[in-house]
Amino acid sequence: ASIYILNGPNLNLLGTREPDEYGSLTLSGIEMMCREVGEDLDLDIEFRQTNVEGILVDWIQEAGDLAQGLVINPAAYTHTSIAIHDAIRAADIPTVEVHLSNVFAREAFRHHSYVSPVARGVICGFGATGYRLALEAISTVIRP
Ligand code: DQA
Repeated sequence: ASIYILNGPNLNLLGTREPDEYGSLTLSGIEMMCREVGEDLDLDIEFRQTNVEGILVDWIQEAGDLAQGLVINPAAYTHTSIAIHDAIRAADIPTVEVHLSNVFAREAFRHHSYVSPVARGVICGFGATGYRLALEAISTVIRP
């Protein structure tokens, strides 16, 4: 099965960006971990990052056409983007929302997500491990 793992704005800065909040692993480190987990679970991983909201929308549409599942860390767009909400709804494939940090333990503006209502489930607060957990979760959903 093919799984898209999409990452939103500023996640290219992981490793140097607020390591107390987000951990010291870089996004390439997370990608490597996802590829290993993907091999174990027999999942084909397409891993991408962009800072541009519309590109995320394009990629979510592409995932709807080509993939069996979506793991997405929409980063700050989580809290602002109706376009991403609509794209995930339209893609109609099992979607896991991931956040490295526990957004509920942070500022109030991070407590609302436009993505959660269209996600199958949400994982937050476990750092890079959340991506592994998301892949395990999605593999049980696409192959129950
Ligand atoms: C984040 C949490 C968001 O609130 C924030 O804007 C991010 C990263 C996380 O992974 O913890 O950029 O999605």
